Amino acid sequence: MDVVDLGMGNPDGATPQIVVDKLIEAARNPRNHRYSMSRGIPHLREEIVKRYKRKHDVDLDPDKEAIVTMGAKDALAHLLFATVGPGDVVAAPNPAYPIHQYGVIMAEGHACMLPMPNPAEFLNGLEHLYRTSSRKPKLILISFPHNPTTHCVDLDFFREIVAMAHRHGTMIVHDFAYADICFDGYQAPSILQVPGAKDIAVEIFSLSKSYNMAGWRVGFCVGNPKLIGALARIKSYLDYGILQPVQIASIIALRECEDESRKICVTYQKRRDVLVEGLCRAGWPVQPPRGSMFVWAPIPEPYRAAGSLEFSKLLMAKALVAVSPGIGFGPLGEGHVRFALIENNHRLRQAAKSIQRFLKDD
Ligand SMILES: Cc1ncc(COP(=O)(O)O)c(C=O)c1O
Repeated sequence: MDVVDLGMGNPDGATPQIVVDKLIEAARNPRNHRYSMSRGIPHLREEIVKRYKRKHDVDLDPDKEAIVTMGAKDALAHLLFATVGPGDVVAAPNPAYPIHQYGVIMAEGHACMLPMPNPAEFLNGLEHLYRTSSRKPKLILISFPHNPTTHCVDLDFFREIVAMAHRHGTMIVHDFAYADICFDGYQAPSILQVPGAKDIAVEIFSLSKSYNMAGWRVGFCVGNPKLIGALARIKSYLDYGILQPVQIASIIALRECEDESRKICVTYQKRRDVLVEGLCRAGWPVQPPRGSMFVWAPIPEPYRAAGSLEFSKLLMAKALVAVSPGIGFGPLGEGHVRFALIENNHRLRQAAKSIQRFLKDD
């Protein structure tokens, strides 16, 4: 059957050609076949630092404040293993990308998932937690543009959360996987733009979405040197770094693919418009997101009681459209489904029409 698959956030576009060419060239050199460096080759760390200066006017030390990781997931999971012990509280929004909760559980910490109908409410919940709980969070784990809700924040949000964390001696991990996927002129700020953020925060970036490099497994973590050191220590026991040709090609992505990255973003914006318009025509109004590669849609009223899992199964069976049920992102994801913008405009129109027929006839 021809299912339009909008389930997983798995980019469908090609990696920029010059990155692929560099990989091939570097793979031919036997010097690049040896063990690499666990924390990433120096040239790649220098390129990461240059990106932060160029895009966010943030100064970083490539040796102490930057580490290359096997994607953002590796950074998140291992940072949590390195810093969280039994009973440590980690506060994060609910719903959330699953590793934000399960990374804490795997480290035997206590995942304190706070509701996030919007970022301001999340901040209120955090404030309340500090006021009322005897177990203060050791870590706050956030991510904006947010998967799955698509919420975006401005620098004031980061100023507030950094000040709050400072007051209470909490560290912050900001997963910035959708740093470059921003629409309508919105530019997602880095938490490290807040003066003093480096004292308590790290930020995790991924090449997966910005450069269509999901399968390559490259990301990095930057910021607080103590947290970077902890991640470097645990990774030094676990891996020998990413295959060197992949790291060399990643330098090209960061240095020379700004235009390609912008084009990828424009593609997602166009797809967003096509899907949002199509769903509206189908009688299913949804908010257009300002960032991320998703549309987060409240389930139409007649189906709400069935729950997001049953509704997703219905969409699959009757409209041949695959989506992610909101419950998969935590209990407060219930009542929504997530569309990933990973099929082309024609297929998105097809999906919206098919949903329209299903909603009308069912
Ligand atoms: C919020 C968030 N963080 C991290 C990741 C994973 O990124 P990577 O491919 O770099 O591991 C994703 C992927 O969907 C994501 O949505």
